[in-house]
Amino acid sequence: MTQDELKALVGQAALQYVTPGEIVGVGTGSTVNKFIDALASMKDQIPGAVSSSEASTARLKALGIPVFEANDVAELSVYIDGADEIDAQGYMVKGGGAALTREKIVAAQSRRFVCIADESKLVKTLGAFPLPVEIIPMATARLVRQFEALGGRAQVRQKDGAPLVTDNGQHILDVTGLQIGDPLAFESRVNQWPGVVTVGVFAHQKASVCLLGTSGGVKTLT
Ligand code: 5RP
Repeated sequence: MTQDELKALVGQAALQYVTPGEIVGVGTGSTVNKFIDALASMKDQIPGAVSSSEASTARLKALGIPVFEANDVAELSVYIDGADEIDAQGYMVKGGGAALTREKIVAAQSRRFVCIADESKLVKTLGAFPLPVEIIPMATARLVRQFEALGGRAQVRQKDGAPLVTDNGQHILDVTGLQIGDPLAFESRVNQWPGVVTVGVFAHQKASVCLLGTSGGVKTLT
């Protein structure tokens, strides 16, 4: 099976976690796009979704799925999103699609995080994928030096020859060369650095369940 087919497989499988009658939290990315497409088949059974990005909001609305503001919904039973890396404990690196801050917000208001990913995302130790960090632009130079002190190399993500601007009007640093052996401690530490909006380690908001697309079918990791 191709990677695209594996993403479609887990996107479809995630429907079993959607509760009829309840609003669902929706992440961002190419795997989530498959989930959104599958969710259209259930749109008459749910009030709608809380979305983690402008891109997912546009896709949901195009399929006729109402989108609610996060502030207008107290709690969600489930949040469904992809990952750039996930380990056996459910700790993740996210933000390849630059939506990490809103993803963490929606994940935090959800009782359960269902991660959907193809098997290439499963790793022993987080850190091979360049770690996304959303930052306030005026802190860039100092944060680059702070990551260097940890042994990393940080670069501002570019788009069309200029720094990429997130849905929140901020920039993204992509940090290579890190081995994140203690994701909980790492997330807490980097989130304290002034100028960091969100670090793309999801350890405090880890996955409760991971649906992993493999050539042998969907594997459920809990
Ligand atoms: C977006 C994300 C995505 O979930 C992550 O990048 C995985 O994306 P894809 O499903 O396209 O591989 O964190 O900010």
